[in-house]
Amino acid sequence: MEKQEQIRVIKGLMHYLDTDTNVDAGGQVRNPVSSYTSREMAKREWQHFFQDYCHVLGMSGDLPKSGSFFTSKDLGKPILCTRDKDGHFHAFLNVCRHRGTVLEDSDRGEKHMFSCPFHAWGYANNGDLLSVPKEDHFGQVDKSCNGLVKLPCIEKFGLLWVNPNPEGNIDLDDQLGELATELASWDLEKFRFNVATRFDHPMNWKLAIDTFGETYHFNALHKNTLAQDFYGNAQMYDIYKRNHRMSLCLRNIDVLREMPENDWNVLLGALPVYYIFPNIQLILGLGGPTLVRVYPDGENPHNSFSQISFYVDPAFAELEMTEERRERYGDMTQRMQGFAEVIQMEDYVAAASSHQGILSGAQEYLTFGRNEPALHHYHNTYRDALGLPPLERISN
Ligand code: FES
Ligand SMILES: [Fe+2]
Repeated sequence: MEKQEQIRVIKGLMHYLDTDTNVDAGGQVRNPVSSYTSREMAKREWQHFFQDYCHVLGMSGDLPKSGSFFTSKDLGKPILCTRDKDGHFHAFLNVCRHRGTVLEDSDRGEKHMFSCPFHAWGYANNGDLLSVPKEDHFGQVDKSCNGLVKLPCIEKFGLLWVNPNPEGNIDLDDQLGELATELASWDLEKFRFNVATRFDHPMNWKLAIDTFGETYHFNALHKNTLAQDFYGNAQMYDIYKRNHRMSLCLRNIDVLREMPENDWNVLLGALPVYYIFPNIQLILGLGGPTLVRVYPDGENPHNSFSQISFYVDPAFAELEMTEERRERYGDMTQRMQGFAEVIQMEDYVAAASSHQGILSGAQEYLTFGRNEPALHHYHNTYRDALGLPPLERISN
């Protein structure tokens, strides 16, 4: 984030705190509950947003060296992501070209060659078919056209982008707009994968995303957890096409009041959370980024899951951990892991409860307040992408 933007965000948050005001969407809107329960809508979302759209599947730090790989089934098909001997990123359908067996089963690791478990056809990590055992018995195989099926992919801004449709395309300029510059400013390629966790949740995937869409709930749902470190009811909110940035307000922001503006680091007073359409929350803390990826369970509107990965700055990890540094940054790393626990034990519990409440038939709509602009924006972007009218405004 550019220096001037950091100062604008911090000043904006201080202004909200000082005047007991908050970001204002200008009115309330209501969202039909069918958005969370309709099988037809879930099917269209799965096709439009998850089967032919460019997705963040990880960060550069998930593939730290030549030979690194990881696999994913999050988009409903087996995908293999690799870094080849020249350092290039690749994504393939993780499927053997002989009889279609899933080629690599492990979640992640390091391999320069993948050997199919069924008959041991061997593939290089650039997708080339290298070897067919007993080819004199099997018959000759044209290796030039039997490599792994490539998926459109690109490594940019320290993120690994993949379109699961082999015929699909990638246009990050169109997808991100000005968010591209913002993401580039964080040098995200330097962070290394640390640890990951998966949460399965009995609710629509958009309810999981909704929990990231406001800080109105901090002082209630998180009164004994996040509210200890954050001021609720104060956030800066900025839109970048279908994506957005919410800057949450750390209580530590008060320390900045005593410092000259030019010494301000936005991460000391705020927690920027980037939402990348359709399913990503990228949270930037002092301890390193946290990547939250939320997926529906295919076309089922009632189940979803989250993949949460933590990354660390290797340069920082190598520094001697002084008492002061432990207090300031070590605690921050733990705090980010604590943040994931809060998501699971508080946010997702409340969101699953909403799903049950919605299924009860108690009401036809949920209401999004003036102080919840992220909810207005991303529900409207989903709707627009599906050819639906915007959410209905019910008050000014
Ligand atoms: S299915 Fe992979 S080698 Fe036969
Ligand atoms: Fe929350």
